[in-house]
Amino acid sequence: MELERAVRLAARLLIALAAVRGVTKAIKTAVYVLRWLVGATSREDAAKETAKRFLNGNGLLKDLSTENMQATTLAHAGCEPCAATGALSPPIQLASTYERAQNLSYPRGFSYSREKNPTRSRLEDALATADAGVDAAAFASGSAAANAVFQTLVGGHVVMPDDVYYGNRQLLHTVFGPWGLGTTTIDASNLDEVRKAVKEAAAKVRDAQGRVLLWLETPSNPNLKITDIRRACEIAHEYGAAVLVDATWFSPAVCRPIELGCDLVLHSVTKYIGGHSDLIGGAVVAGSTPLATELFARIRSIQHYGGAVLAPFDCWLALRGMRSLAVRMAMHSRNGLAVAQFLDSHSAVTRVFYPGLESHPGHEIAKSQVKDNFGGMLSFLVATEQDAIKLTATMQLAKRGTSLGGTETLVEHRSSVEGPDSQTPKTLIRVSVGLEAAEDIISDFAQALDSISR
Ligand SMILES: Cc1ncc(COP(=O)(O)O)c(C=O)c1O
Repeated sequence: MELERAVRLAARLLIALAAVRGVTKAIKTAVYVLRWLVGATSREDAAKETAKRFLNGNGLLKDLSTENMQATTLAHAGCEPCAATGALSPPIQLASTYERAQNLSYPRGFSYSREKNPTRSRLEDALATADAGVDAAAFASGSAAANAVFQTLVGGHVVMPDDVYYGNRQLLHTVFGPWGLGTTTIDASNLDEVRKAVKEAAAKVRDAQGRVLLWLETPSNPNLKITDIRRACEIAHEYGAAVLVDATWFSPAVCRPIELGCDLVLHSVTKYIGGHSDLIGGAVVAGSTPLATELFARIRSIQHYGGAVLAPFDCWLALRGMRSLAVRMAMHSRNGLAVAQFLDSHSAVTRVFYPGLESHPGHEIAKSQVKDNFGGMLSFLVATEQDAIKLTATMQLAKRGTSLGGTETLVEHRSSVEGPDSQTPKTLIRVSVGLEAAEDIISDFAQALDSISR
């Protein structure tokens, strides 16, 4: 138990006791309890030190470190024993409606599953905990989650990276633009551009009383640009703008943007959280800032009345994915770095984008956000578009397909997936590095690169 939590508990106890037993007795009891809690805290710290010494001493942390990845919290995600049966895997509650009491109340807190469902509540609680947030709302897809965020902002303005998931760019431009939501596109890895755009947007919407949202996606898709989240949030907040980070590519096991100062986090749960290419889902997690509280209340009512909720079985799949997220992300990161280093050393590859490489311009910032786990997403350039297409056609172990975050390595010629207004170089190949043995993935790339080497 942390000291801060111990002090908070003792303070609550003190107030409660003072009301019942008088102030002097209350202070004595609280001091006794606080001493006991502090003792327990130092015992816990000492035990953690012993465990670390043991693991380090025996070289057990070297290969697949899950330090800083909330492995323990995630391994128990949504696993509170079921009150009715004691089941340790979360029950899937399919009911659409719930019994109402004679006095017209809903004594168990559930009335209708579009509004609130027990399996979805478990997932939302687990997501909020994993991201160090205070609440979360689960949607039918990552795009439905983004849609809900944009709906809360109509009349306002979104500052968005030039390199962003193309579906979100399309959603903003084709759906929300005509509805009166302004957009500015910037290179979000450049903080001067962030400041200029947020300042101008704040001036623009002041009269309309609209909100400005700085939308960040870091690493960006598909060029893996890195934004200094902490500094970008400070800048945005100076002008009263809220900040959302689409953290799909790192996942909560690798990076928790709320701890770096942002207001909202978005996940396509479809990707690493689900982890097995078998579900479509999304979520928005709220931090505790006043801006987060204001925007999340609107997002929750859009979820509630709009109804694009995640179905109970998909919530269960997402919870199952979360329980192995830390160890999967450690392995994705280890394989990602190995593949990036191999590609970087190959003469047929002209450039590799992976924040774990020391040569990446955002490496130091990324390192401060993720420690040593840089995730499993990378992209790289080859000489010509024909080479890029031939290379993906020649891969044998890796599968050709869009999406990311599954156990299998996926390669895609990204610009042809994004369509005619894609800004992605035609020579770029995006890779979701999977959980196969690193040497097998690398030898697959080696044979495919040989086919285009001149
Ligand atoms: C970074 C990012 N955000 C959001 C989405 C949209 O998620 P979904 O496909 O679950 O709607 C994607 C999908 O690829 C993505 O890569």
